Amino acid sequence: MTAIDRTKLKTLQQREESRFLADHPKSAALYNRAQSSLLGGVPMNWMKKWAGAFPVFVKSAKLAHITDVDNREYIDLCLGDTGAMTGHSPEIVADVVARRAKEGITLMLPTEDSLWVGEDLKRRFGLPYWQFTLTATDANRFAIRIAREITQRSKILVFHYCYHGTVDESFAALENGVIGPRRGNIGPPVNPAETTRVVEFNDLNVLEDALKHHDVACILAEPAMTNVGIILPEDGFWRAAQELARRYGSLLVADETHTICAGPGGCTAEWKLDPDMLVFGKAIGSGIPGATFGVSEEVAQRISARIHLDDCDVGGIGGTLAGNALSLAAMRATLEYILTPAAFEHMISLAKRFADAVGENIRAAGNVPRHHRGRHRRAHQSLRLSGRRTHLLGGTAILAVLFIRYDFPRYSLTSSCFCFWPLALLASVWQRYDCLTG
Ligand SMILES: Cc1ncc(COP(=O)(O)O)c(C=O)c1O
Repeated sequence: MTAIDRTKLKTLQQREESRFLADHPKSAALYNRAQSSLLGGVPMNWMKKWAGAFPVFVKSAKLAHITDVDNREYIDLCLGDTGAMTGHSPEIVADVVARRAKEGITLMLPTEDSLWVGEDLKRRFGLPYWQFTLTATDANRFAIRIAREITQRSKILVFHYCYHGTVDESFAALENGVIGPRRGNIGPPVNPAETTRVVEFNDLNVLEDALKHHDVACILAEPAMTNVGIILPEDGFWRAAQELARRYGSLLVADETHTICAGPGGCTAEWKLDPDMLVFGKAIGSGIPGATFGVSEEVAQRISARIHLDDCDVGGIGGTLAGNALSLAAMRATLEYILTPAAFEHMISLAKRFADAVGENIRAAGNVPRHHRGRHRRAHQSLRLSGRRTHLLGGTAILAVLFIRYDFPRYSLTSSCFCFWPLALLASVWQRYDCLTG
């Protein structure tokens, strides 16, 4: 295996860092100015995690392209971590949003768009009833509250190293088999071991052991884990997991926020899953804040038996701006014109081509160095090259394919690091080949 020359690496890094400073004088000036008004010099502290001494400040973005304040152009391989998976400001969504913005933005009353969106979501995912929030985090939090209320159970179950947004209960992880706060968990309200059971993905035995306590209100899960590389379910995992959930009286909440890239109805439709609740956020409004959760007929009935109108606005589920007219207009335009079945068909075939070619190149390169991280091992073990799995992987490459659709690379990726998603994608391809070779 080729050894990495660390000294050379350090020299290259220093060269790139100096170049970055020289290339971004206006961003540097704005970042310095921001130190006196923004905590850490950025609107949110994670914006500092980009490579380079400071984040670039953006002037504008369109589809797959970003222009910064120094007039440098980039291909955006991050796309707002899928919040802008549809491309930045697709023309039709931008027009609809501009029109709606002049006709009332937030009303605390329904608009007809909400019906259109609810009907469309019902067709896509099969769940009959829908509610709207501002973020996928909120949708997950509200799904959890509902699950707790209707099951009268206190715990939720998540898979080790999941990510579902800033949901307190989900920041639990296993450390030597013991549940505790995940590394970096900021000010946890209680030790998440009190609220959460954590098990390894794809391990039906430990899942059953956890459910046997009869205290799990719901399993909150991505159908395929997308925030820790990409971990695909073993054949038959979800069918068996659903059966276990039903047997022990726990609900299943499918978080399709990222896995929507598998098709117009996410993995739920692609793999014929049957969740009790489903969450979809981020890309649903092309970047305009908005998210949704859907519930089954049975859950809907249990909600109406326990949750009453008198107190529902102060009951922990809601938010003044939730379900606002602007979000719903953006969601409708996105679902009607952008995330359409025809677009998925086209994109997935291109994505498959992309994934196949990357795989071919890796195979041709032969002895490519590989990197295992302990907590991901189960992922490596779980990945195989079956058609269905390849399909999800191809679906993930949708992001890359959007670039092709929307005017592919005229500019090369710069030393800036808008590259999270393709790295995840490539990592997943590598993981796949790890299974074949390692
Ligand atoms: C699977 C999944 N669900 C939910 C969320 C939360 O989305 P938001 O940060 O928009 O609330 C994320 C965020 O990355 C996510 O990856």
